[in-house]
Amino acid sequence: MRAYLYDNIEGDQRLPHDSGVPITPSTLESLGIFIQHIPLSDLPALNALASSRAYNNRDEITVSPESMGPAYEGKMKTFFKEHLHQDEEIRWIVDGKGYFDVKDDRALVDGTQGSGQWIRIELSKGDLMVLPAGIYHRFAIAETNYIKAVRLFKDKPQWTHISRSQEVDKSDHRKAYLQSLGTAV
Ligand code: LAC
Ligand code: NI
Repeated sequence: MRAYLYDNIEGDQRLPHDSGVPITPSTLESLGIFIQHIPLSDLPALNALASSRAYNNRDEITVSPESMGPAYEGKMKTFFKEHLHQDEEIRWIVDGKGYFDVKDDRALVDGTQGSGQWIRIELSKGDLMVLPAGIYHRFAIAETNYIKAVRLFKDKPQWTHISRSQEVDKSDHRKAYLQSLGTAV
């Protein structure tokens, strides 16, 4: 895992877009993002995490042109649109590489912290990340066009992509997320 400010320079979203400004794990934590490295060989650690957070289901997805066929490029565009979900998004990367971009929106809560800029989180083999419900984010696959991830979830996850809008900004899930930041900072 590596995190840094996104450079906002036009160009292929699959490129690193590294501005050179690092973002610390504690900043990610203060945004409600949980990150842990679990080596592929350590299934007991994954199982322990799953049971401590009551993730009783899991599946595996491969994102690549081969696995997705003609829908691939369209999906990559959809994944890269700013969105949120009503549930947590939990991913354990088992192969390949990808980028989750999240926004530091603490400024909306306390007016002092948080730049509102995109933060890029690079995830590769063994990285596990939990994005909290209600956080705006987007996903870009890396240049290799290949990532494989285990998705952990509770019974019926609400992973619908909800695009950013003024209405969504006022929704309960969004408000609950911002309130959680209010107590975290
Ligand atoms: C998702 C990732 C792409 O929602 O954010 O599946
Ligand atoms: Ni998402």
